Amino acid sequence: MKKLALSWITILCIQFLFAQTPAEKLKVEALIKKMTLEEKVGQMTQVTLGVVCTPQDGVLDTAALRKAVVDYKVGSILNVTGHALTVDQWHTVITQIQDEEKNTRLNIPIIYGLDGIHGQTYTLNSTLFPQNIAMAATRNVDLAKEITKVAAKELRASGVRWNFAPVLDCGRQPLWSRFPETYGEDVYIGKTMGAAVITAYEEDGLKNPTAVASCMKHYLGYSASRTGKDRTPIYMPDIEMREYYLPQFREAVKAGASTLMVNSGEINGVPVHASKYLLTDVLRKELGFEGLIVTDWEDIIRLHTRHFVAKTPREAVAMAINAGIDMSMVPNDFSFYDLLLEAVKAGEVPVSRIDDAVRRILTLKMKVGLFDNPYPEPAASANFGKPEYQTIALNAAHEAMTLLKNKNNILPLSKDKKVLVVGPAAQSITALNGCWSYTWQGNQEQWYPLDSKTILQAIADKLPLGGVNTVTVKGFDNAANFDTEKLKAAAADADVIVLCLGENAYAESPGNTRDLALPDNQVKLAEAAAATGKPVILVLTEGRPRFITGIEPKMSGILMAYWSGKKTAEAIADVLFGDYNPDGKLPFSYPRSMGEMVLYDRKPTEDVREIFNADMNASGYDPMYRFGWGLSYTTFDYSDIQLSSNTLKGDGTITISVTVKNTGRRDGKNTVELYTHEQYASITPNMQRLRAFKKIFLKAGESQTVSFTLGKADIAFVNAQLKTVTEPGDFDVMIGNKKATFTYAQ
Ligand code: BGC
Repeated sequence: MKKLALSWITILCIQFLFAQTPAEKLKVEALIKKMTLEEKVGQMTQVTLGVVCTPQDGVLDTAALRKAVVDYKVGSILNVTGHALTVDQWHTVITQIQDEEKNTRLNIPIIYGLDGIHGQTYTLNSTLFPQNIAMAATRNVDLAKEITKVAAKELRASGVRWNFAPVLDCGRQPLWSRFPETYGEDVYIGKTMGAAVITAYEEDGLKNPTAVASCMKHYLGYSASRTGKDRTPIYMPDIEMREYYLPQFREAVKAGASTLMVNSGEINGVPVHASKYLLTDVLRKELGFEGLIVTDWEDIIRLHTRHFVAKTPREAVAMAINAGIDMSMVPNDFSFYDLLLEAVKAGEVPVSRIDDAVRRILTLKMKVGLFDNPYPEPAASANFGKPEYQTIALNAAHEAMTLLKNKNNILPLSKDKKVLVVGPAAQSITALNGCWSYTWQGNQEQWYPLDSKTILQAIADKLPLGGVNTVTVKGFDNAANFDTEKLKAAAADADVIVLCLGENAYAESPGNTRDLALPDNQVKLAEAAAATGKPVILVLTEGRPRFITGIEPKMSGILMAYWSGKKTAEAIADVLFGDYNPDGKLPFSYPRSMGEMVLYDRKPTEDVREIFNADMNASGYDPMYRFGWGLSYTTFDYSDIQLSSNTLKGDGTITISVTVKNTGRRDGKNTVELYTHEQYASITPNMQRLRAFKKIFLKAGESQTVSFTLGKADIAFVNAQLKTVTEPGDFDVMIGNKKATFTYAQ
């Protein structure tokens, strides 16, 4: 009851925070009354910076700007032309744009949008944090909020009040090139972190210079493409959509997300940009989303040019707007403006739909304070690049580090060891940060802050002079980084080899891959390192799990570092040498091979191996490393699992507690995870579902009792009638290696 009351209070507070004041509402309505159809359609048009820029990055073309703002009355501009700009350059760009807008009849400010995906991507010297996949490994929701608040401040300091984040797509297809942008395969982590991040972006109030409007994306199912290639077809029954992909958006709406971006792909043959069912029936009516819906890049015209569901470009425009789109990220020309005007005049799109879209756009502009002051705010600028952001970045990278293997406790290494650092990522900055890092692809090192460290540098910082050696050079793909002969020769002198493999930065379709296997040249390097007979510590900096099955047995230690932002190298070195005790937990099942891509929340028959299978003794869930895996330099013992009752009744709650003891010799953090499994249900029950987690810190020898409270909603599932239900029955609850059972009775 208490839990229920509290959550209602939270919802009411959030609604209060994001509600429009009556005066704002009147202002919006008055403006709509004054607007011509052209002005309304202009508001719905978003173009990319390149449309109004000279060939020189960040330098506007005054004639092109006038054409966009005055002639076409565009409502929004986005993106960069090539790479990140300085804060000052952003201020100039945004000031010029808003100045130009003063030449329009109604002086409606322009809203600028950028992709601050893991920190403010597009401002030079901003602080970059771990990608979402790495933040999911931290299992630290407060930390996710903390980094988000910095991202918001650095965006706003740049004069930008709308961020195209967070990505809420569920990472259940590791081949997908945007897997690093997801919170991994689990729904609960995705919806919990996603909602927290949205709250962090917006909770200060959008008029405040510390907040930005968030944009949950990419609604819906974008991550579930069959082939794993970006923007390729998705086939998804509603029951799967509602169980694994919709809850994140439902929670995000409740958390007060101001805007939403649509999935560029098609589901069951219907492009989502043309889906009235998903955009209006589910999103607006069922989820109650009141904010602005923006398309993704060029996605309206593609209904005609790529998806072939609209016979003409104009039909594409009408289709999307009638489905529920409010703003078109056109973004390279003004075709949308012309076509929508024609469509409205021909009666193909009702004016009421246009007014509805414009109302949402103007409301957003009002909420973020653009009508009060559209220019960069000095109070916001003061929040850029504060020294404490570096500490937050280090904390986040530390907590992301996930120790996968530590044979005979080879780690941590003592600082008197002679270390040979090899592999393509040893001297790369881009392979530590990944996508959306100062450029879209993140693969141009010249734009990174000068004090960014490589793994080699961070290791060298730990050791006495001469303690570290390398045969690597700069440039991930440089052939010298794969020279096995040089590696062998240098190894003679070393006590241990740190082998830095993984993926260089990529984003979206340039990151498409035919195979998750590590490239041959990396595998050969690993084989050569192992053949030296020296212990090899494998450090993986990668956005998605690349198979390491063949080389894994030969490695003494394996550290999954993901793309963890500015402080990745320092965090790696801290873990390798014991200055940080690792506590990250895998947010996905690290697969062994293409034929073994089973997820942790699998169905019972995925576990079945029948007698005629050669590997009949293995469980069907047999990943290289399971979901939730992650070692520490200390040990945690779980005991005394207790239930407040053996029965959970109706709308009541049940409390489950467990005692956790740090039984090792080091202090450390540990995430206590609670999973449930319903024994029998009308829909085949998942073998496990993560329902709650808490991260705790325990000094060596210390114990703590950790409690979780569950209600029926926490153990619900989507049934054959597509209703979210909790069926009476017996539920196993698992925490660590402890298990108990309770009964749910209506
Ligand atoms: C991506 C979006 C992004 C947009 C604007 C698209 O290619 O899919 O995630 O927000 O570009 O940069």
